[in-house]
Order: sequence, then structure tokens, then C-alpha cells
Amino acid sequence: MENIIASAVSQVDDAGRENAPRRSPPGSFVIFGGGGDLTHRLLLPAIYNLACADLLDDGFSVIAVDRADLTDAQLRQNMHAALEDFVARRGAEAVALRNDVWTWLEPRISYVRGDFETEQTYQDIAAAIGGRNCIFYLAVAARFFGPIVDRLGEAGLVTEGRNTFRRVVVEKPFGHDLPSAIALNTRLLNTLDEQQIYRIDHYLGKETVQNILALRFSNGFFEPLWNRQNIDHVQITAAETVGVEQRAKFYEGTGAVRDMVPNHVMQLLAMTAMEAPISFDADAVRNEKTKVLDAIHTLAPGDVVRGQYAAGVVGGKDVPGYRQEPGVDPHSLTETYAAMKFQIDNWRWAGVPFYVRTGKRLAARKTEIAIHFKSAPYALFRDTPVESLTPNIMVIHIQPTEGVTLQFSAKIPGPAVRLGGVRMKFDYAEWFSEGPSTGYETLIYDCMIGDATLFQRADNIEAGWRAVQPILDWGQDGRTLAPYAAGSEGPAAADALLARDNRHWLKIG
Ligand code: BG6
Repeated sequence: MENIIASAVSQVDDAGRENAPRRSPPGSFVIFGGGGDLTHRLLLPAIYNLACADLLDDGFSVIAVDRADLTDAQLRQNMHAALEDFVARRGAEAVALRNDVWTWLEPRISYVRGDFETEQTYQDIAAAIGGRNCIFYLAVAARFFGPIVDRLGEAGLVTEGRNTFRRVVVEKPFGHDLPSAIALNTRLLNTLDEQQIYRIDHYLGKETVQNILALRFSNGFFEPLWNRQNIDHVQITAAETVGVEQRAKFYEGTGAVRDMVPNHVMQLLAMTAMEAPISFDADAVRNEKTKVLDAIHTLAPGDVVRGQYAAGVVGGKDVPGYRQEPGVDPHSLTETYAAMKFQIDNWRWAGVPFYVRTGKRLAARKTEIAIHFKSAPYALFRDTPVESLTPNIMVIHIQPTEGVTLQFSAKIPGPAVRLGGVRMKFDYAEWFSEGPSTGYETLIYDCMIGDATLFQRADNIEAGWRAVQPILDWGQDGRTLAPYAAGSEGPAAADALLARDNRHWLKIG
């Protein structure tokens, strides 16, 4: 994340223009699962966008590894079609693919056909990459992570030279609970050094998530307020309108807690709550993240609400309940919503609850962090009781809009002293003209330049799982699965979780 922080500190002028970052070092980008959906939808478009931004070295190449019977020419054709679909037709305005960029990229793409568990595949990869720098990207089902890394090790493909690197990028899900995450870390670390492992959480590729650190640590006025003296509580929301889509098989065994909380939500929480790192060096940042996650108090059953969507209306359309979705068990106890109250046991946050919620089929797609400040201590204004002052809330909007708003009280114009709530707004789109982005550009580029700040270290991953492990240990229990109508704000039980503390959620829709 070198480029991001550096620009936040010094390299952006008032119009938001950045000094040009350097090109990546030369090397091969080997994608296991190179014929799959993730490659087409995100990885290749991100590589194309990096090429458009002139961030790739002339010695860069992509090697797709997969099982389908394809020639290089067919693969290139498929990749071009994917770019047409996911770059050129992305967003409201059609953007033509740049011919010069495709002409540059096309001859750099090649294919290795092979099974992920067969020795021959690794010999073919070895022949294709020679002694060059190499990133192995595991865009495959989680069950292949361990076997692929074992084979890479056996084939000697992850041995680094004096001046060459070998790195492995691991996609989510990293384990399905704490013990399996520890076991996977142990297995990968048998073959690789920690510095060679780049565990992706795509939330960390989002501009506004990276901006949390820039906001907190490159401005002087947040720090004095950022603590239990001034903050009443924090609400973190990751709400989606989509249902389970075509992923019933995966989601049935996963659920909202595993899918979203130990990874994405915990990253948001850690970035909001961590202490200032001593530098923006990858380890300095990750040390602080782990420390704050380790300080989370063990959850009690009363602090957690699990919900499941019933039929309802989303975007004006009738949609079925979760149990009626194709591929879902009609008696499924899998949660599609989770809300919980975390307490952080340290000097900064003792007594400040962090309420988090995430779910599918909610009233709107919205990811945000709302910092609720304490109210003014007494009613200075006649006839305006403290409780009716507009609460001071700073909201960091992650998506779909990106920005920050600050809500506070102001005098309503006129002869009488009357107070009203107002908002100050910083909107990313207004300030910065951003090129097309999938969110993976920064992550891929950072991996190429060897900056692991935006990737999770083994202890980060384990701390995230540790925080939710109590919920997994309680098991699935139909009695505690709170229903909510699709398109709603979530289950009533989640409102009760805050009402108990005399608080309420900000509205999603
Ligand atoms: C993924 C989850 O990791 O994140 C999905 O598996 C979820 O279930 C997605 O929809 C949300 O990501 P985003 O970037 O759309 O907020």
C-alpha cells in the first residue's frame, strides 16, 4: 500500500493528482484456476487496468493454469472476451478496450494445461517460468490451497534466489474456523516463509477501506477524539441486497458469520480501532491490527443475533425466502444475517461497544462505519433537551458511495434559537477522478512490489477467527435463528440488541 499512504502523506496536490508510481518488477503471474470466474471477472481486468496505467514491466507475463483443454490462442480469445464483458461493458458508460494495451498484453498470456495435483503440471510451470520472479495466485477452491503449495514446494518452485522472489497469493476462505485456519497456516508455513504468503481480503483493496488509515493517521484532529472519553459506540454495517445467488452449495456450509465477519468485518473493525502503527511498514500495521483483534472480549450468546431471510420485496421485486432458494435445504439453519456486540478490552476502548451487522437481502447495499460521539454534556439551549440534539456521528462510507459525512447540530436561521441537524460531506467521486477499478489493482500491484501491508498475516487471520469462534462452537440452533423479511432492515432481535443499551441502528435503506 506504499503508493496509497505515500500519496496520502505528500504526493497528492489539491486536485488529487498523484505522482506516478513506479512500474512493477518483471516476472510471471501464474494463476491456478486461470480459466475460472475470478480470473475473468476480476484478476484479468485488474491486470489490464494496471497495463493501462503503465504499471507493468515489459518483462511481465500471465500464465493461466487450469484443467480445460485449451490452446494459447483459445485462452487469449477467452480472455479478450472477458475483458469485453468486465471492463468494456462495466458501469453506465461503455469504455472501449484499448487496442494498444491489448496488443501489448496478448502475447504475454499463455496457458499450461494440467491437474493441480499432478507432478507434470509443475514441471510444465517450471519450464514456462524459468528462473524468473513469480507470483502464484491460487484462484481455486479452498481444498486445493494446501495441495498446490505442497506441490510447488516439492517442485522447488518457491525457492527464492538472491535477486528473485517467489510469492503465493491465497484467496478466501482461509479456513472455516479457528482450528482449520491454524492448520492451513501450519501447512503453508511448512513450505513457505511468512513473507512469501499474501492472504487476500478483497475489502482491503477498496479505496475507502485504505482511506480509514489515511484519515485517522494523517490528520491531527481525529486522534484526540478517538477514544472512550469521546466516542459512545461504533456501528459497522456490511449490508447487501443480493441473496445467495448461485452459491447455495458454498453458502449452506458457510453462512453470514464465516463468510463476512472474521475477514471483511474484522478488517474494518481493526482499522477503526487499532493504535497508530510506528510506520506504514507492513509488519508495523499488521502488529497493531492483531493487537486490537486479540483484545476483543469473548462473545457471550446474548451478544449475538443470527437471522435468515424470509420472502419479501427487494428493489420492487418479490423475492423468495432463503429456504426456497435453489439448492438450499428447506429446513436450513444457515444464517444469512448476523449482528453482534464486540467489546475491546484495552485503555482506548473499554466500555465502547462495537456493534457489527452483516446480511444478505437487506433494504440496501451499504457498507459503512459509523462513529457515534458522545452528546454534549448538558442542555445549554433552553427548550432543547440534550437527548434531542442531533447526535454527532461520523460515517465512513465504504460502498456504494465512497466518502465521509459528519453530522452535527447547527442553529436554524431565524430570530429564535432553534437547532437542527446538518451534514458535512466529503465525496470521493467529487474530489478525485479515478480510473476504472476492480479493487484488485492495488492488491496485485502491491504483491508484485512486495508490499504486504494490505494482506493478512497468519496471526491476523487467526485473531479474526478467534473473535467469532464462540458462535461457531455454539452450533446452529433453530430456536435462535431470527427471521427477517427480504428487503427489510434485518431481524427485530438485532434492534433489541441495541435497544437493550438504549441505542439504535442507523437505517440501512
Ligand atoms: C465475499 C462473500 O467475500 O464478499 C460474498 O463471500 C459477499 O458473500 C462479498 O457478497 C461482498 O463483497 P463486496 O465487495 O460486494 O462488498
